[in-house]
Amino acid sequence: MRSPKDFFAPLAVGAPEPVRQIPFRPSRMIHFFDPGNERMAAKVPEMVPKADVLLGNLEDAVAADRKEAARAGLVRIAREVDFADTQLWTRVNSLDSPWVLDDLITLVTEVGDKLDVIMVPKVEGPEDIHYVDRLLAQLEARAGLTRPLLVHAILETASGVARVEEIALASPRMQGISLGPADLAASRRMKTTRVGGGHPGYLVRTDPVGDDLSEGRVTYQQDLWHYTVSRMVDACVAAGILPYYGPFGDIRDTVACEDQFRNAYLLGCVGAWSLHPAQIAIARKVFSPDPGEVAWARRVIAAMGDGTGAVMLDGKMQDDATVKQCQVIATLADDLAA
Ligand code: GLV
Ligand code: MG
Repeated sequence: MRSPKDFFAPLAVGAPEPVRQIPFRPSRMIHFFDPGNERMAAKVPEMVPKADVLLGNLEDAVAADRKEAARAGLVRIAREVDFADTQLWTRVNSLDSPWVLDDLITLVTEVGDKLDVIMVPKVEGPEDIHYVDRLLAQLEARAGLTRPLLVHAILETASGVARVEEIALASPRMQGISLGPADLAASRRMKTTRVGGGHPGYLVRTDPVGDDLSEGRVTYQQDLWHYTVSRMVDACVAAGILPYYGPFGDIRDTVACEDQFRNAYLLGCVGAWSLHPAQIAIARKVFSPDPGEVAWARRVIAAMGDGTGAVMLDGKMQDDATVKQCQVIATLADDLAA
């Protein structure tokens, strides 16, 4: 059987374009559905053209007495629905749960050829990925699969964040990592009960004006997830895999959802989870480069010729580094248009 390594190009050294190890497939939104919920399952075919990735969720939000129905529902959906170019992922139960072994055995042997990526929650360190990697290799061999399943880790424990670089490098199957802000908040003993996003108490104020300490200060809300997202992005890019923001739980607050997604996009994430159809459109908008930015990027690239030296464009200095920044945006636009 081919090893997953055979499927990935080696990292290019000194490449003029951003290095990419994983073959490009759009994954701006990973749209979650509960495969054991008949109403949701019936809607999967109509979601296929709308989402880049559809994920059958077996873990949290599926009650203990519905785990088996969810697993069986996903097998049925994977067999019956034509996913065309849309990826089918699953989130299995955590490695310390009583369900994960059956999740992996059933899914890989029954519908392993239909699945693209297995999302593993609550990853504590590289040993969790090693375990999944070996088990997948055994199950793929048993099922006669010729295409290796990829693995995506959720970064949602303090230990996982402390070891994110090792997790990102743990296997050639690694496709990416998502921030899981709800479990991470609990693991870290943060004092927020929200799923992602900000908190009105986490803010910074400007200095007081004169002697009046209470009036006239401007208040800015801070991003609770900035450190973790930045660290995750560095770990993923260094390993040649993809970083994602995870869930945003206040479905009604589309403004805050868009802000959170955009912060993650600007920091380097390629996509986010969508928990409701309304969030699909938000993610598509945020994680597709703005046409004005793309036009500017192309102007800089054209003006920079062979990409070396310096030019002035609209009063702004461009050089070897800015042309690389522009290539990131232009390449993403080209890939999404292809
Ligand atoms: C996602 O799984 C989270 O815990 O935020
Ligand atoms: Mg979680």
